[in-house]
Amino acid sequence: MGWGKIFFTVLITFSAALITYNILISANASFKEEFPAGPSRKFATFSQDPIIKMPRSKNKKRLFHTAVTSGDSVYNTWQTRIMYYWFKKFKDEPNSEMGGFTRILHSGKPDRFMDEIPTFVAQPLPSGMDQGYIVLNRPWAFVQWLQQAQIEEDYILMAEPDHIIVKPIPNLASTDGLGAAFPFFYIEPNKYESVLRKFFPEEEGPITDIDPIGNSPVIVGKEALKKIAPTWMNVSLAMKKDPEADKAFGWVLEMYAYAVSSALHKVGNVLHKEFMIQPPWDTKIGEAFIIHYTYGCDYDMKGNMTPGKFGEWRFDKRSYSDKWPPKNLTLPPPGVSESVVTLIKMVNEATANIPNWGS
Ligand SMILES: *[C@@H]1O[C@H](CO)[C@@H](O)[C@H](O)[C@H]1NC(C)=O
Ligand SMILES: *[C@@H]1O[C@H](CO)[C@@H](O)[C@H](O)[C@H]1NC(C)=O
Repeated sequence: MGWGKIFFTVLITFSAALITYNILISANASFKEEFPAGPSRKFATFSQDPIIKMPRSKNKKRLFHTAVTSGDSVYNTWQTRIMYYWFKKFKDEPNSEMGGFTRILHSGKPDRFMDEIPTFVAQPLPSGMDQGYIVLNRPWAFVQWLQQAQIEEDYILMAEPDHIIVKPIPNLASTDGLGAAFPFFYIEPNKYESVLRKFFPEEEGPITDIDPIGNSPVIVGKEALKKIAPTWMNVSLAMKKDPEADKAFGWVLEMYAYAVSSALHKVGNVLHKEFMIQPPWDTKIGEAFIIHYTYGCDYDMKGNMTPGKFGEWRFDKRSYSDKWPPKNLTLPPPGVSESVVTLIKMVNEATANIPNWGS
């Protein structure tokens, strides 16, 4: 090998190293610059860059902050304590992109669980403004929290007290600005087009832009939610004031209001059926991340469901609307579905381990 060749090889090696170095430096620089912007169009082009994509998908966790709105009733509190117990259990497991946790307490004053659960105290709506519909406090609580709290994560999971996390949750939201949401069969924008057009006029787009979702469970970019939440608040109040909308939407009004507000801000949602299951109707845990125990579970002692009729064995969160559920609830009789058995076992494990349960 002549000197010329050696020199050439060294030059090429050196140049290659320098170029790689430069690419890495500039890649890192643009990474830092663009990442805090949250989901935006930039991400789409950005993630096509192979040098960035590898560290992003392999190493970089896209953490989301879990936020649960709650009042200070015993009913809300026992559920939230169980919720947080299971959040902690799965937070640091593989596949988790769960970051921080906040209970947004919308009673306006601290309670005695501030040390047990990270809590942000939000003010309730001025009296009379909720017009007897207490869930209107939810959007208002989110507005205050998003405006006032320091939130490190770029994404938010909106969860509820009666959610039990059953496995580590990855960030289901996409990097191109779409949220991830659970589709509710009873949210039917097409059916209510004429009412919804009062809040989502024709020029905003087709009615199908409104997703069949509520605000929870949803994982969405923080910056997007900062825009959606105040609109959600306004649309909720406007719908509540509109007799036609109030009558059409009833107790799910604030879910429609979220779906409309998300659409008004052009934030679409990828629907994830596996986000959660709702016993007793869903019988298997399967791929689900969350058990939502909103329905009563009634069974006879042979393990047959007796919906709408008090079962010989039953679990209904409403049985504990003003008292703590006791530790060690009786397990369902043989034959009852996996989802219900798992729910009771998980409630029991939480109540056995949370300090000072029931006091
Ligand atoms: C909410 O409604 C108020 C009063 O109508 C209005 O001033 C405000 O701009 C609205 N905000 C949003 C985000 O729609
Ligand atoms: C829970 O209750 C069952 C009877 O229903 C009993 O056999 C069991 O020992 C109890 N477990 C605890 C931890 O108290």
